[in-house]
This record gives sequence, structure tokens and C-alpha cells, in this order.
Amino acid sequence: MASDEHGVMTPGLDGTAEGQLEVSLRPKTLATYIGQEKIRHELGVYIKAAKAREEALDHVLLYGPPGLGKTTLAMVIANEMGVGIKTTSGPAIEKPGDLVALLNELQPGDVLFIDEIHRLPKVIEEMLYSAMEDFFIDIVVGEGPTSHPVHFPLPPFTLVGATTRVGQLTAPLRDRFGIVERLNYYTPDELGQIINRSAQIFATAIDAAGAKELAWRSRGTPRIANRLLKRVRDFAQVAGKQAIDRESVNQALTLLDVDQRGLDATDRKLLLTMINYYGGGPVGVKTLAANIGEEAGTIEEVYEPYLLQIGFISRTPRGRVATAAAYDHLGIPFEKEGKQ
Ligand code: ADE
Repeated sequence: MASDEHGVMTPGLDGTAEGQLEVSLRPKTLATYIGQEKIRHELGVYIKAAKAREEALDHVLLYGPPGLGKTTLAMVIANEMGVGIKTTSGPAIEKPGDLVALLNELQPGDVLFIDEIHRLPKVIEEMLYSAMEDFFIDIVVGEGPTSHPVHFPLPPFTLVGATTRVGQLTAPLRDRFGIVERLNYYTPDELGQIINRSAQIFATAIDAAGAKELAWRSRGTPRIANRLLKRVRDFAQVAGKQAIDRESVNQALTLLDVDQRGLDATDRKLLLTMINYYGGGPVGVKTLAANIGEEAGTIEEVYEPYLLQIGFISRTPRGRVATAAAYDHLGIPFEKEGKQ
């Protein structure tokens, strides 16, 4: 995403075709948003009620693994409320002035979307408390003897915060969100619907077997499904296919090193390290991180949640353990003795 001097980001305007494509694939309404049933239902109720009362929607915290549609949902919320949206991210707001500039531009009822909200600097987070609760901020203007406090009233607005690491939010910030929703991985069926919708937007034909195969191998994640769809489309096109079929999916995904369960090279490296170096575990995340050359945080946020979800690893108080299903997937004999 492109960002200006105040950290305001414009999704998809980063000049890349990839960015623009991601934007064009985003559903704009709750009705066209596929999956996350519970969230859609709840948000539908809260939005309807807030609109009937002519109030700003309560602040919303969206959390969960990357690529599941947190930014998309923020935009859907603004669209359904019929209000504007300003988009930024935690690390982009460095100084109090950046936050003031953002808040200053808000119209009554607007959405302020802060991605990676767990990465907000402490001073900014503290300024947000009164902004969220009572719609004002107190700032100190000037320096030295001429400095003085200024009370700055704000229009009612909705803060939509998104994070992959809800555990890193401080309690005071978390408690100021009236609506807290966790996004879950999508089922293969839901991903199949998203893939069909995206193929339609690309004016690309995909047959049922092709869509199903791709859905199974997209790690439960729309962003991955859409990215892989683009690559698969290239293969089908070069092969002169009328429609993307299972064969084009297989060809492209083999080349991209995405296996039958949608695991990529890093997923497999993680599992193989647990199995080959640590007898399947238990092993701590920091140890694993050092072994495979990834950040512990990335393992926790990106890799582990999906492997936990599909039952390839389990968590124990002493660390992570590779399950029999993981051994089976990797074609390694699982000796039950001494393993859990
Ligand atoms: N594209 C990406 N995520 C989507 C979703 N949840 N519903 C519909 N289209 C999408």
C-alpha cells in the first residue's frame, strides 16, 4: 500500500497490478462477502441498529491470521454505514501530529481503520483512549515556555482496528472496542465460492474440479486463493486451455511448491525440523525459529495457526508437537511409543 507523510494509506494505489487486483476482488457489501457467517450476521445487526439511531458504529476490533479479510471487512463496514474511511497502520503513526492529522480529517460517523494496531507507539495508543471513549484529545502545542495544552474535540467516529496478534494489545486498548471479532480460516467450500467469484471478475473460466482443487490448496485463506488463481490462470492460458482445470492447478502449484494440503516450503521445513531434529517435539517456538531462519512472531502468526487448524501440530505446555497426521502427510513413519 502507498502511504503519505501522515501514514494514510491508499489500498491498491501502490501502482502495482497486484494491488489493484486485490482491490477489485474485494466484496463491498455484507451480502456479497463470502464466509465468516457469525461476523457477518453480528455486524449486520450492529450496523442496522447504529444507522437506525443515526449514531456512529461502536469501535470494532478484528483479529486473526493474515489474509482472511480484515481490511476488506473494514471497508465493507464503512460502505454499509454509508460513511468515509481513512486507512492507516500502527507503525505508520509515529508522532502525535500524525494522529491529529488523521482525526482532523474525519467527518461525523467516519471509519478510521488502523491495521496492525498492536504496533501503535505507546504515546499514540494513550491518545486514542480519550478519542475512542469521549471523542476528544488533549495535546500539548509548542515547546518550552510557550507550550500549552489544547483540548481538541472530535466528531463521533468508528475506530476499526485489525491485528494478527491480539495477545499483544494492552488491556486498556482492547477494552475500548465494543465489538471484537475473530476471523477464522475459510472452509474449502467457501474458498471455492470466492475462487469462482474472482474468476468471474477476471473473466476467466474455471471448471468445478479446478476450483475445488485450488480451494483445498489455498490454506484456508482468500488472499492466497486469489494469488494462486492468478498464477494458475497464466498456466492455463499458455497451455491454450478454454478453462482452468485440475491439471492447470496441479501444474502451477507444483511449480510454486505448494503441496496437496496447501503447505508451502516453509510449512514443510517447520514440520521436518520438528520431526527430524526434535523427535517430533515438544519444541519451543524460539528454537524452531532459529532453526528455520524465520522470526518467532511470523511462525506464531502465519505458519502455526494453519498447521494447528488442520491438526498437523498441537500445543503443549512444553512446546509444539508434530502430530501423526503431519508424519503421515510427509510420508514419515510415526512410532507411537513415547509420542503423543
Ligand atoms: N475476496 C476476498 N475475500 C472475500 C470474501 N470473504 N468474500 C468474497 N470475496 C472475497
